[in-house]
Amino acid sequence: MFFERPESGELAILVHIDLADEADQESPRELEELALSAGADPVEFLTGSRAHPSPKFFVGAGKLEELRALVTMHGAALVIFNHALSPAQERNIEREIKCRVLDRTGLILDIFAQRARTHEGKLQVELAQLEHMSTRLVRGWTHLERQKGGIGLRGPGETQLESDRRMLRARIKSIQKRLEKVRKQRDQGRRSRRRSEIPTVSLVGYTNAGKSTLFNKITASDIYAADQLFATLDPTLRRITLEDAGPAILADTVGFIRHLPHKLVESFRATLQETSEATLLLHVIDCFDDERHANMREVDHVLKEIGAADIPQLQVYNKLDLLEGQAPRIDRDDEGRPVRVWLSAVSGEGTDLLIEAVNELLADDVYHDTIELSPKDGGLRARLYEQGAVMNEAYDEQGQMQLEIRLQKKDFLQMLSRLNIPAERYCEVEIPHWQQ
Ligand code: GTP
Repeated sequence: MFFERPESGELAILVHIDLADEADQESPRELEELALSAGADPVEFLTGSRAHPSPKFFVGAGKLEELRALVTMHGAALVIFNHALSPAQERNIEREIKCRVLDRTGLILDIFAQRARTHEGKLQVELAQLEHMSTRLVRGWTHLERQKGGIGLRGPGETQLESDRRMLRARIKSIQKRLEKVRKQRDQGRRSRRRSEIPTVSLVGYTNAGKSTLFNKITASDIYAADQLFATLDPTLRRITLEDAGPAILADTVGFIRHLPHKLVESFRATLQETSEATLLLHVIDCFDDERHANMREVDHVLKEIGAADIPQLQVYNKLDLLEGQAPRIDRDDEGRPVRVWLSAVSGEGTDLLIEAVNELLADDVYHDTIELSPKDGGLRARLYEQGAVMNEAYDEQGQMQLEIRLQKKDFLQMLSRLNIPAERYCEVEIPHWQQ
């Protein structure tokens, strides 16, 4: 799992009940993955089946008794239900078993709180946390010992936990206002920000596909020179250096989850906000998972919703070590462009092919050449330096300046057009179709 875990995770009991009247059941395995992602240490999985939930405790009296015994036996700090609980159910269970209870929504929100990166993303998650908690906080938490910083209590919203309802409402309002402002600024700023940014390569994929393992494998390798300073600022972003394409940012993202509770869709999108501005998406797929086709469809569906459907995608079929007799390889389309890479993030086999494919795809958008400048091209030289595009400067025997430059084609084109220099003078550059 990707998340840095607390030194020792909170001991958690997981509960999943098969409900006869619920057609689309959540998967118990997914709950375990989610709990691990949040940093919990699941010690027991209590399962059962019912026709429909009991209004008071969700489970029946017998199950509740079993749960109480398990909590005592393990000294568990937390019980996580794989269902949406009403505030009343949550409180009733807590009171009965004397242990904190988190429902599926609260658990996912906790994960988002750890993953939200942008200011807007953080605000959006905080809003969802406060809205989720507000109904649960009204009568205080006096029936339980207060715990700070535990799972479901973390993130930007945690300081508000002990506030009363009115304060919460005021806070929700103020966040909504700030969100609106941030959104406006974002829309205005997006164009100028994109201009000279180095390309971002975003890892996306269904939860448990192996994104973080792959991210760590690539960035831990000296060959691709992870920038440590950058790394400490945000553990989900690293700078890598590619042979032809130059520097790029590799970004890990939150895993996709099917049946995302409806009220969390906005927060989920907010954590993925930067993905919609990526240059290339690496869609990581667990090639050993029977559900992979459904998972891929779900990922593509969400990418479409966040406006990322047109971003070029390279599929990464991970966990190749689990398929017998398969060697790592790159699959290409009719024009020879890489479309799929088969590898194992755990063993590291094939990661070099992935880097090769990414390098190829990104290098298509990069202008890297040595150009000749005359003395009257001072303006262009200054701009190129300003943008950090100059790699080398030399003079030939005739005293002509030779500049080795590397920058995004679109940036170079824009620069030339601003200075009224015909593009044909330097290159036959084509604007990548998704940036036109
Ligand atoms: P989320 O953080 O939930 O989105 O998951 P993720 O996509 O980041 O997956 P993660 O890297 O946490 O890996 C999930 C599980 O798959 C872990 O138990 C990994 O050890 C395992 N895994 C990842 N890559 C490979 C691989 O190449 N081969 C095998 N056999 N297991 C792998």
